[in-house]
Amino acid sequence: MASLTGKQRIWLVGATSGIGLALGQHLLAEGHRVALSARRREALEELAQDHKDALVVPLDLNDRQSIRSAGQRIDAEFAGLDLVIHNAGTCEYLDVRHFDVDLIERVLATNVNGALYTIDAALPLLRRARDRDGSHPLFAAVSSASAYLPLPRAEAYGASKAALSHFLESLRLDLAAENIDVSIIHPGFVKTPLTDRNDFSMPMRVSPEFAADAIIKGLEKRALDIHFPRRFTFGIKLMGILPPALRRRIGLTMTRKSDD
Ligand SMILES: NC(=O)c1ccc[n+]([C@@H]2O[C@H](COP(=O)([O-])OP(=O)(O)OC[C@H]3O[C@@H](n4cnc5c(N)ncnc54)[C@H](OP(=O)(O)O)[C@@H]3O)[C@@H](O)[C@H]2O)c1
Repeated sequence: MASLTGKQRIWLVGATSGIGLALGQHLLAEGHRVALSARRREALEELAQDHKDALVVPLDLNDRQSIRSAGQRIDAEFAGLDLVIHNAGTCEYLDVRHFDVDLIERVLATNVNGALYTIDAALPLLRRARDRDGSHPLFAAVSSASAYLPLPRAEAYGASKAALSHFLESLRLDLAAENIDVSIIHPGFVKTPLTDRNDFSMPMRVSPEFAADAIIKGLEKRALDIHFPRRFTFGIKLMGILPPALRRRIGLTMTRKSDD
């Protein structure tokens, strides 16, 4: 398994299951100081037990104040952050026959606004680590390979992740002058509770441990675009740059037929 150099102060948002849980287990085992966030306090406490450097900081991405308070709590304990991994997110697919605006708003709010609230809370802590301790801070967020290519039923999820990736790419340009890096993580399919709900085939689905390893390797290199498994994500990237008529033809092969 890959490792991160030094002993880092890390805020991991979305640490209770799937990719985030695998990341949290690994980062704690490596001895980093890790602030663990998500909604489910008990699951966070279970992850933190036996790790004196873990800090349990529950929050809800749909509650901006809870994220602000989490940031203040982490600042009081860690006095700055070297690395933030915003991993939390949700996925719901749209059945366009029953156009569900509430569903779309839920996904956009959680995946886009939630990330903005984390950035808002984290930036002062990243700046403090840089100014006080000479750290070279890194903000990373988990987007999705679906940001590369619009797919059927993924109007809400794909748009939320494309918005997140676009936002972070802009942010990276503006933070460069401040010596704060931004990494965007684009996983393909990973076996987690989020994808266990899916009723369609998920080619090249990898384990959460594989995902955590690929992410940590990418963060260690401070890669701008961390994507895996590569055979899958290169294919999706390639499809994403095809002419629109060809993209449409490929996309249509993935739409649902009548009542399936
Ligand atoms: N699995 C995949 O194939 C795949 C592919 C591409 C991208 N991703 C992205 O990877 C990230 C992790 O997904 P996963 O597959 O590991 O899913 P998961 O097992 O469902 O984990 C989602 C994590 O996000 C947290 N979370 C969800 N809603 C939240 C909210 N409102 N407030 C705070 N925390 C919240 C959950 O914790 P609580 O329930 O305790 O709040 C949990 O820790 C997501 O951003 C997802 O979009 C996943």
